[in-house]
Amino acid sequence: MSKQTIFSGIQPTGIPTLGSLLGAIKHWERLSTEYTCLYCVVDMHSITVRQNPEELRANTRQMLAWLIALDIDPSQNILYIQSQVPAHAELSWILNCFTYMGELSRMTQFKEKSIKKAENTNAGLFTYPVLMAADILLYQTNLVPVGDDQKQHLELSRDVAGRFNKVYGDIFKIPEPYIATVGARIMGLQNPTSKMSKSEENINDTIFLSDPPNVIIKKFKKAVTDSDNQICVLPEKPGVSNLLSIYSVITGTTLADCEKEFEGQGYGHFKTTVGEAVADLLLPYQKEQARIIADTSYLTKVAEEGAAKARELAATTLAIVKNAVGFQ
Ligand code: TRP
Repeated sequence: MSKQTIFSGIQPTGIPTLGSLLGAIKHWERLSTEYTCLYCVVDMHSITVRQNPEELRANTRQMLAWLIALDIDPSQNILYIQSQVPAHAELSWILNCFTYMGELSRMTQFKEKSIKKAENTNAGLFTYPVLMAADILLYQTNLVPVGDDQKQHLELSRDVAGRFNKVYGDIFKIPEPYIATVGARIMGLQNPTSKMSKSEENINDTIFLSDPPNVIIKKFKKAVTDSDNQICVLPEKPGVSNLLSIYSVITGTTLADCEKEFEGQGYGHFKTTVGEAVADLLLPYQKEQARIIADTSYLTKVAEEGAAKARELAATTLAIVKNAVGFQ
């Protein structure tokens, strides 16, 4: 039996966070032995919000370099940039004609963004989930690793694929969410009851993968805890629990052993130790990312080779779809 396919899209805006590293990206590395994995830097999605062209171009390369630095090996995975594979746009148009205005109006992200970006509620923002469906369906994807915020979009992809199949026969695989069995849910350092996010306004809440060691340690020292000085995992101690779970993932020690390690210690020492562990973890990745970014021709080659592989796979589905709808 051939391998199943996993597809994930990553926005090039912003720097990945410790939360996305420990919760998702670090687990992708292992998937390539079992699955055909496509990781697409979705620059076409990003222009639904106004971008500075030079910044978008640079950020797209930065993100590609991060993925490589974080051990997503371009020879084992299909790593590419969305706008270099025109089939995404072509399938997106066709799927637009199989998606209802009503469904798109119900998307939570659209509702939120159209309020926040009231001055630029463009049609792309509205049909964003259709482009996402095209990304996924083009590769006959079986599994999509998604966070909570993207579940509704994946559900829409499934509905559109099902609707298309009902008219034209079994054209698309119906994708399923990929629920990682491992992977920690890392919370914000200032607000430990919500997930660490790159769009959080308080920068002390989030560890960006590019943060230098002194900044990381400073942010951990400021992490919100509580006033009872017990270092243990408890629902009423979300801050301390989050720090323990970060430490546990990084050191590969059980939570119980981490609790033991810090028994009787003060919060100050605890926070600094966790901060140092994070800084030590990130430093080699940061160096590797900087090295890759500086190697312009290598990065260009990786992007081109990834896009070539993606174009080849996408062509098969697109040809079947075009034929089905009656194109020449
Ligand atoms: N919308 C996703 C996000 O903002 C990014 C994305 C685009 C995506 N296309 C995708 C994720 C396809 C999974 C599959 O995070």
